[in-house]
Amino acid sequence: MSRDAVYCSAWCYIEVAQRERQIFAMTTPVDSAEFFDPLNPQHVAEPDEFMRASRKGCPVGKVSEHLYAANTDDVVRAVFDDTEHFSNRGNFSVGPEDVRLPFTVVTMADPPDHTVLRSRLLKSLAPVRLRKLTPKVENIVRKAVGTLPASGRVDLYADYVHFIPSAVVYALIGIPEPAWREVQTWSDAIVRVIPGPSHELSEFASLMEFLAQLVEERRARPEDRHEDVLDNLCFAEPGEAEMPTPEVVCHIFQLVVAATDTTRALITNCVYRLLDDRSQWEAVVADRSLLPNAIEESLRVDSPAQFMVRTAVEDVTLAGCPIPAGKKVYLNLQSANHDEERWGDDSRTYRADRPDAAMHLAFGKGIHACIGAPLARIEARVAIEALMDAFPGMRLAPDATWVKCEGVLTRRVESLPVCLDGGEVR
Ligand code: HEM
Repeated sequence: MSRDAVYCSAWCYIEVAQRERQIFAMTTPVDSAEFFDPLNPQHVAEPDEFMRASRKGCPVGKVSEHLYAANTDDVVRAVFDDTEHFSNRGNFSVGPEDVRLPFTVVTMADPPDHTVLRSRLLKSLAPVRLRKLTPKVENIVRKAVGTLPASGRVDLYADYVHFIPSAVVYALIGIPEPAWREVQTWSDAIVRVIPGPSHELSEFASLMEFLAQLVEERRARPEDRHEDVLDNLCFAEPGEAEMPTPEVVCHIFQLVVAATDTTRALITNCVYRLLDDRSQWEAVVADRSLLPNAIEESLRVDSPAQFMVRTAVEDVTLAGCPIPAGKKVYLNLQSANHDEERWGDDSRTYRADRPDAAMHLAFGKGIHACIGAPLARIEARVAIEALMDAFPGMRLAPDATWVKCEGVLTRRVESLPVCLDGGEVR
């Protein structure tokens, strides 16, 4: 067994028997000692075969002294639903130390604090409020399409997708448009190192200072109200808590981080998969009602957020594997979304018309399920439709390949080189 991947094979095999899985063949590219290990950079770079081995041979296992991993659809769902035994404190940290923030943000809070915080955010992020943002999203997308040339080769990730989700979340928050480019430069530098510590970056200081100033400016003009997140958090209504400026800044910062790289990954991955088997692109160009399901299937096959983390609050047994109190569990969303038991033998194949594709776990499940999911879906639909309208003949560039971007959290194809006019045939 490798040093880090000390999986608890006894429990695994009990679980395998229960699920009537076959012990995976030793002829696969990974051997039995190499179940998916989120601390191993080699596994993180090309995770799919390692995850397959884990699903077959070790649905729940011990990765390190502090960390266990849950790799199948049923087990990941069960943990999402079990808020009695699992806490969100320390979410995203795979090491022994939790990221320390001056205020608890919604994704790291447990009830009852979580309930209060989520309700407050929902005032700005309820599905009906997010749908009202559609004209703003359309405007932002129109601007992004307008910057593309009429034909030739571009990297759609860098030249198109990159700008859209950050602009949308800045509009939602209420950041003035002239500041968007600068805020994006700072937040991109931060998002690149997350979930590692980012507070030592100069960009972190610049962003925090900028946001604090924005909060102070809003509070200095209480008569000038807006329908945005800043307004919601700056001005408490009767029965709501007044938030000090650094707390408002923390919540805003968390929204920027949650909304940006994830949604960029969704749009980029979905376009890549559709173009990779071009008959699927053509089918959706011809019938746009197929697009929502194509987007759900992209979320399933290439889950933008690869994992979430929970901490056991007491000794607990998960699918036969004992997990001591205080240990963390890596919820392997990507592996759960490729689970053959749930999705069939072609679980790793992108099929835009897959039935029930929306039953994936890419947005989580339960009390912490993604609050921005309706907005991410709107952005993906508007951004991809705009491409289909402007460049129906678009093709992947001949040298385009699926290479996962760096980083442990995000799954996104590194770049998306395309020929806009369909000139070079792949
Ligand atoms: C494709 C894009 C996105 C993906 C894949 C994604 C994924 C997720 C997942 C898996 C969770 C669950 C966290 C957990 O269980 O610990 C989550 C929570 C969250 N997401 Fe998203 N997200 C996306 C876009 C967005 C956007 C656009 C926003 C904001 C506008 C957002 C804001 C949040 C917030 C605030 C939470 C925490 C909710 C809570 O703890 O109650 N996300 N997201």
